[in-house]
Amino acid sequence: MISSIKGMKDILPNESSKWQHVEKIIHSLSQLFHFKEIRTPLLENTSLFSRSIGEETDIVSKEMYTFLDRSNESVTLKPEGTASVVRSYIQHHLGEEQPSTKLYYISPMFRQERPQAGRLREFHQYGAEILGSPNAIADSEIILLNAAILKNLGLTNFTLIINSVGCENCRPNYKIKLVNELNNIKNNLTELSKNRIDKNPLRVLDSKDKQDQDALKNIPVIFDYLCESCKSHFEELCQLLKNANQPYSINYKLVRGLDYYTKTAFEFISENLGSQDALSGGGRYDLLTLQLGGKPTPAVGFAGGIERLLIALEKENNNFHSENILQLFLASADEKGKDYIFTLAQHCRNAGISTEFDLLNRSVKSQLREADRQNAKFLILVGEKELTEKSLTIKGMKTNISHSLKIPLQVEELKSIINK
Ligand code: HAM
Repeated sequence: MISSIKGMKDILPNESSKWQHVEKIIHSLSQLFHFKEIRTPLLENTSLFSRSIGEETDIVSKEMYTFLDRSNESVTLKPEGTASVVRSYIQHHLGEEQPSTKLYYISPMFRQERPQAGRLREFHQYGAEILGSPNAIADSEIILLNAAILKNLGLTNFTLIINSVGCENCRPNYKIKLVNELNNIKNNLTELSKNRIDKNPLRVLDSKDKQDQDALKNIPVIFDYLCESCKSHFEELCQLLKNANQPYSINYKLVRGLDYYTKTAFEFISENLGSQDALSGGGRYDLLTLQLGGKPTPAVGFAGGIERLLIALEKENNNFHSENILQLFLASADEKGKDYIFTLAQHCRNAGISTEFDLLNRSVKSQLREADRQNAKFLILVGEKELTEKSLTIKGMKTNISHSLKIPLQVEELKSIINK
């Protein structure tokens, strides 16, 4: 037997209604905030990600699904959505249509991480990006959309944490200071963090390891090194979040696992998720468009993991999904009945009634059992007798409702009984 690849999961029929519900809310909230959907290919040129996410990040250095295609081009299954959105924005001159562009997406992503609860190798992100606005109001728009999606799904147990990671003017000074300090406490750090000091010192701050956290207690934070522009941007964002009644807490050690961030960085975390506690994350990336060959375009965005949303919803006992309800089961008592219900099913479906019938030539008893198993709301049984008498009966499967209907059947009459 061939099984699915480690860390990649089937979404089975009994789970798909939950996914559809979550996706419906993401679409409707994104559109309510007037974002437009963008769909980009799963496969991109590898250089798109190495040039944007950063060569030294975990994602690029060890997690990407990268391979040579049959033309010997290095291609990669996308590990995140922002780089592809920016590539598409530049390629199709989307910025020329309006001064600021609001886009959202839902897509599978791929990272070859060690699988555990809430961490997969194929996972699904929903995300949104605003390109063209340098202002903190765009950051707040992104954060408030993210919060609205979580709230509309019924989640309550989550926290927004924010920070500023500075910009090209203030970060280099801080980095020098940080590397010095990290070297001073090197012996108290874990091996992983020691190795990061030269390659990606900011990431050391993000370590979840208790040993590192203890060692980092008195480490200088970037906040104290921010330039005026970064500081006022951050203060403005805090004020906007207060005005919108959006609670937040500041975590000066929050840095993100991708290198393109400038100024704002944020995460929505949930204690219901265990060690992979980020429901979503994002921030500002004012230099990325230029870095990828476009015109300088300030931008901000976020992405969240749908698998993690579902775990959090389950932990909060949120019985949120609506099953796809079968409205009508058509059963046949004989060959004549079978021909009749085949045509009737098409009429019912054309009229918007979800309709099912037996595909296995089974006995009446088995058909009725199947109607019950499928939780059908109504049943009509048709045989030669009904067709000769030109009269049918529609019965409620879980109620005492029963109506007789004349043949030829008026589908509108049927619909009004079913929808009552
Ligand atoms: P990220 O923090 O790498 O950011 O991923 C965003 C979210 O995707 C995480 O918070 C988590 O919910 C989910 N996620 C990431 N990796 C996995 C995994 N292996 N298994 C399950 N879920 C996962 C980004 O990807 C940025 N592109 C976000 C962004 C958009 N920044 C600006 N615009």
